[in-house]
Amino acid sequence: MRLQVKNTLFIGKVLLHFERLPSTNAYAQELLSKNRPSEGTVILADYQSAGRGQIGSTWEVAPGKNLTFSLILTPSFLPAPRQFALSQAIALATRDFLSTLCSKQVFVKWPNDIYIEDKKVGGILIQNSLSGKKIQHSIIGIGLNINQSQFDQKLSKASSLAIETGKSFALPQLLPSLLQYIEQRYLELRRGKLLKIQQDYLSHLFLYQKNALYREPGGVAFQGKIVGVNPGGQLGVARENKTKYYSIKEIEYLGIMD
Ligand code: BTN
Repeated sequence: MRLQVKNTLFIGKVLLHFERLPSTNAYAQELLSKNRPSEGTVILADYQSAGRGQIGSTWEVAPGKNLTFSLILTPSFLPAPRQFALSQAIALATRDFLSTLCSKQVFVKWPNDIYIEDKKVGGILIQNSLSGKKIQHSIIGIGLNINQSQFDQKLSKASSLAIETGKSFALPQLLPSLLQYIEQRYLELRRGKLLKIQQDYLSHLFLYQKNALYREPGGVAFQGKIVGVNPGGQLGVARENKTKYYSIKEIEYLGIMD
């Protein structure tokens, strides 16, 4: 597909489009190690043979049916301890975008999964490179399931925009629109609107203030309620009026309670 991004200021103005790559995040890393790609460079692949997921997992989707791309940003204005705000801004932008295409509720599931109702339709992998207390550059990898109609049985939570809406979508038109939403949220972040981003994040957070079942690794199931996310990006879960903050992999969500 031939793509041109006209509706943004800088995101997607350089767009490198490949039929096939091992991983767009890996390609972005390679680019950054060789030269200085301009901020907003997008690397798009119709198919990834070794797509990377969060915490060492893989990201496998059908060729040509989905959006899989990486974006290079240089958020040097953001102190490293506040890097979670970038993750929030990107997840929110992706949610903003999907909610224009879907009448069902679209959520961000902590930390940055994209859900339509209780199904995962998108994942985000952000790789920041730090220099002292600053973020030197950031690779934002986004995988959004758009037209895929079937998923491996082991991915019981996986779905796509097409499954959730009953429609199919023209990928070349979707990308510029998504990039525009990302640019808007990124500019918000650059203007220092961290409080607004935090508020918007909580208002679209999956299971926020709802009773659900959780488990710590090796522990027993308990009833808890998400009550917030701290600036470091840890999830606050209240259990019998005591709130504990968890990093990724320190808590597992088991299911909702009525
Ligand atoms: C997750 O595990 O939920 C995050 C998945 C992120 C997948 C995207 S697809 C484009 C980019 N390139 C990669 O190798 N991974 C990210």
